[in-house]
Amino acid sequence: MRSVIPDYLTEALGAVESDLSGELAGYIPELAAADPERLGAAFATVQGEVYGAGDIDTEFTIQSISKPFAYALALADRGFAPVLAKVGVEPSGEAFNQISLESDTGRPLNPMINAGAITTHALAGAAGLTPAERVERVVDGLSAFAGRRLRMDEAVCASEMRHAHRNLAIAHMLRGHDILTEDPRTVVDGYTRQCSVLVTARDLAMMAATLANRGVHPLSGERVVPEPVVRQVLSVMFTCGMYDAAGDWATQVGIPAKSGVAGGLIGALPGQIGIATFSPRLDPHGNSVRGVSLFERFSSDMGMHLM
Ligand code: DON
Repeated sequence: MRSVIPDYLTEALGAVESDLSGELAGYIPELAAADPERLGAAFATVQGEVYGAGDIDTEFTIQSISKPFAYALALADRGFAPVLAKVGVEPSGEAFNQISLESDTGRPLNPMINAGAITTHALAGAAGLTPAERVERVVDGLSAFAGRRLRMDEAVCASEMRHAHRNLAIAHMLRGHDILTEDPRTVVDGYTRQCSVLVTARDLAMMAATLANRGVHPLSGERVVPEPVVRQVLSVMFTCGMYDAAGDWATQVGIPAKSGVAGGLIGALPGQIGIATFSPRLDPHGNSVRGVSLFERFSSDMGMHLM
């Protein structure tokens, strides 16, 4: 095992390395300055073993991969009913930054799109926390999933906030429907901070392994969130995690997953492993091009498709 898996991963990276298609996330200037050649993949088992190849210790911002974890924290902190009252669980079939609200209630369709994730951020932590305390709760929670103290990239955060017109517009719509009950800019600021937390592919594999291990961190043994929360989160990742490519992903790869615009991609195979890849060039859905190829390869080579 110890040398077979890294050899396999090195070979898999070699097979996708020459694919230079896709674009960096240009709408966040700081991300557009990233090194597009980075490439890494890591597996973390539910027993806590980590295998990797390539750039698995390079830090990048978590971006939308924070969404399932923040959703888990909101469910754990507030309970299912209050969260479901504000955020649905239906695939939108639309891009991550579409408005995608239910027409009558204004409830975002799911917590993986920006509208749902902005709302979810406001539901993390106990009711009544200050915005700064809520961000702290989210960073603490993400850190517990990773098993190490994570920090924020202030430059990426500031860069995104300067261009966050679309998320601000969505948040104002949410406020107009009373889905958000506080200042929209404050919530978008907190959500953007959440997206700016720095992780490595190794961290992401471990975070995914904590989901695969039904909410218990494989090494620390800490129960980060209750088991029913994990079931809810993995279900939503399966149906909505890849946005308007969710159907292609479900048929071709077949495991719960989440992507981020800095180039990270995670998958969790319940009871078995967490997988993470890192490669910054994105397809038109905002998913890492080489990450998607790697997952297709892993799924087919190792029979990971859940169906
Ligand atoms: O809100 C945004 O647009 C970014 N902070 C996160 C978007 C993202 O990662 C979409 N996923 N692929």
